Amino acid sequence: MAKPKIIFACQSCGYQSPKWLGKCPDCDQWNTLVEERIERASHPRGEVALSTAEVAAPVSEISATDKPRVGSGIKEFDRVLGGGLVRGSVILIGGDPGIGKSTLLLQAFAALSHAGHTCLYVSGEESRQQMKMRAERIGITSSKLLLLSETSLERILEQIRKVNPAVVVVDSIQTIFTSSLPSAPGRIGQVRECSGAIIVLAKKKGLSTFLIGHVTKDGSIAGPRVLEHMVDTVLYFEGEGGHSFRILRAVKNRFGSTNEIGVFEMKEAGLREVNNPSEIFLMERPLGVPGSVVACSMEGTRPILIELQALVSPSFLAVPRRTTIGVDHNRVALLAAVLEKKMGIQLFNQDIFVNVAGGVRVNEPAVDLGIVAAVASSYREKAIDPKTVLVGEVGLAGEVRGIAQVEARVKEATKLGFERCILPRTNASQLSHLSGVDLTGVSSLAECWQILF
Ligand code: TYD
Ligand code: MG
Repeated sequence: MAKPKIIFACQSCGYQSPKWLGKCPDCDQWNTLVEERIERASHPRGEVALSTAEVAAPVSEISATDKPRVGSGIKEFDRVLGGGLVRGSVILIGGDPGIGKSTLLLQAFAALSHAGHTCLYVSGEESRQQMKMRAERIGITSSKLLLLSETSLERILEQIRKVNPAVVVVDSIQTIFTSSLPSAPGRIGQVRECSGAIIVLAKKKGLSTFLIGHVTKDGSIAGPRVLEHMVDTVLYFEGEGGHSFRILRAVKNRFGSTNEIGVFEMKEAGLREVNNPSEIFLMERPLGVPGSVVACSMEGTRPILIELQALVSPSFLAVPRRTTIGVDHNRVALLAAVLEKKMGIQLFNQDIFVNVAGGVRVNEPAVDLGIVAAVASSYREKAIDPKTVLVGEVGLAGEVRGIAQVEARVKEATKLGFERCILPRTNASQLSHLSGVDLTGVSSLAECWQILF
């Protein structure tokens, strides 16, 4: 009998080494290499993959409508997928434990099964009774939604072949193991092997597959990072602790745009779609308070109004604090330097805190003007008119630069009852056809100051 080969695999990034190392040379994490045995697979990988092989064909003869999309009936979910589920696609959903991944997929599957598709929900974490309890809580009854509590890869594949579903979810991929490898479930080798087998079957049968993966900081279970290359779409389900809002974000999508987000709210009876996120994020906004400014950020194709809050207070530290939640820390430090140099605001002895209300994260330069205005407003203890929205990128010379998709942003602001929009001058000149809102173009911070303060 051939001796099994022993390798050491990094549980964080999948790096393999013939000997043990304290620090992974690939991802620089400590103590992540774990011994794994690899036995020769009973059939070479290539054979399985080859059975799905196609022959080369000219691009002009291939029709793009080969893979029609299926709507899940949950609009926010379909939007993130790029307009529905593509047959045969494999989607990885990552997120912290308890964020609502199982709930989201159970609800999506309920909608799909009502539309007549057979759905198979495989859970390696919960018993069928637990899944049933969750389904009851959300109010799901459907004969086309099948539940299976199983952790063995071989038995899962057998059930998939037998039931022949249109969509399947494996919750979570870290709990599934194959008996062809001796290592424990959750180890990187197991995760890679199991997902590989599921992906091959999905592609072969045209089965849409969701894989759920936990992301942990300490790397004690294999993060789904190694899987990101193997799947078509990677979604992250995220939310701030203490907030009931959840954001579904695409970070990779072979069948649609990334940056697209879906907003949900966790309720007593499951997740509810939030169709008008701007309204929700501005709901508890204090009016006429210094340091509070409304800006508009594009999330994919959708403009979202957000409230930026800044607090500037005298610092007693040698190096004053620059703390941010929801916006990039370096961006705020840079904008503070511009304010200091160009607008003569003394911030070197002030702590600056910037927060995006509602637990949203924005990383678009178009919110620069909003951040700068919020910081200045707090510093001067002077409130900014609550019916004003600010958009624009701020350059190092204190200039206000043009931004993209400005019309969609202005329309969103008008829809929510804002009366004035301060925006880059170059953009304002393109929008003279819009009515119902006062468009004020500015080309520098100095000009903006004259209007605001
Ligand atoms: P769950 O979907 O189990 O999270 P995950 O699969 O990502 O680990 O959801 C967990 C949380 O959601 C749990 O703390 C309870 C809450 N929840 C609700 O508030 N309402 C509901 O209807 C459901 C099903 C869960
Ligand atoms: Mg779960």
